[in-house]
Amino acid sequence: MSTRAQDFEQINIALSDRIRASAPNGILAEGDSLELLRKIPSNTISLILTDPPYHSTKKHNIYGDTQFQEDEHYLEWIETYSSEWHRLLRPNGSIFCFCDSSMSARLEILFSRRFNVLSHIVWTKPNEPGFDGWKGKMKKEALRQWYPHSERIIFAEPAVEGNLFRSTFAQFLRDMRQAAGLSLKELTAMIGAYGKVNHGGAVSNWEAGRNTPSREQYEKVCSAILETGKVKYMPPYEDVIRVFSVNASKEFTDIWTFPSVRPYKGKHPAEKPLAMLEHAIEATTYPGDIVLDCFAGSGSTALAALNLGRRTISIEVDQKWVKAIATRLEVESIKRNGKEYSYQPQENGMSTFVHQLDLFSGVK
Ligand SMILES: C[S@@+](CC[C@H](N)C(=O)[O-])C[C@H]1O[C@@H](n2cnc3c(N)ncnc32)[C@H](O)[C@@H]1O
Repeated sequence: MSTRAQDFEQINIALSDRIRASAPNGILAEGDSLELLRKIPSNTISLILTDPPYHSTKKHNIYGDTQFQEDEHYLEWIETYSSEWHRLLRPNGSIFCFCDSSMSARLEILFSRRFNVLSHIVWTKPNEPGFDGWKGKMKKEALRQWYPHSERIIFAEPAVEGNLFRSTFAQFLRDMRQAAGLSLKELTAMIGAYGKVNHGGAVSNWEAGRNTPSREQYEKVCSAILETGKVKYMPPYEDVIRVFSVNASKEFTDIWTFPSVRPYKGKHPAEKPLAMLEHAIEATTYPGDIVLDCFAGSGSTALAALNLGRRTISIEVDQKWVKAIATRLEVESIKRNGKEYSYQPQENGMSTFVHQLDLFSGVK
């Protein structure tokens, strides 16, 4: 498998005619993301963190939010994305897709064709009165259902058929063990991972997709398999195990309480809180991983990823927001690094500042 740096370079080349701002670890491309995603090589993205138009909200100030008459048409559109997302993700990658509560059930079913839906996160918005949308102002007696004061985030991993939990790692482990000519019992004995109940021990649980080995356990598996001489290469932990890293000091439940972004001049109508995006990225990526947002809006996903030393690809169709993202990243870069930068004007009036956005430093 290629490295993150090689993949990033390939994506850079694939999107080159649409890139509006770029840096060693960040790319901003302009255009219809479905068309651009089709240019990106397969299995290159570690995390898709994206927030498509919700459709049911019918906001005229968000490109695409009113483009579908029927829910079915919206679902068909997302289905084409779902297929591309699955192709793009590394087998140990993850996806977060934001959606409205009225569409979430149908989206989960749609995603479950290709993904294991792991969490249905409820983003509650504990906003102070005056900053809580229609909650304070509306006539409660007129309600005919519970006032929808939360948004949903579907969290999933790519699925394969072939084991109990449709786990890609489980499939990979079984293929490698069999290529090495080892039985479940033999591999278990070689790494000393006996279970309390069955003879296959931990290995049989891993091959069922029930859970995954620790880094230390995986290293023992690699040594045992390579020792047979029948398998020549075992990939590093970061290329096979989906990262999920939370602890008691962070939000570890599927209820996320992050206040909405307060109104300010130039705010994107659907801008998501930076802290929430950082929370999502930190828990589900390794440093240096490539994070994709194909409905980039204000560019908050890009900023969150870069803040955490990840690589990032942002795609946005609305030129107004493409410019806003470029400016935001440039301003952040200068604020942090005080670096000189130079514009390279493009024919379409955009500017590019290749290799100038040094807040992207520190990524391996
Ligand atoms: C819900 S907003 C995303 C807001 C973003 N998460 C943020 O924090 O600012 C959806 C964005 O997708 C963009 N969009 C809609 N259709 C698109 C398409 N086909 N390709 C790329 N971007 C698209 C819209 O212009 C809008 O900025």
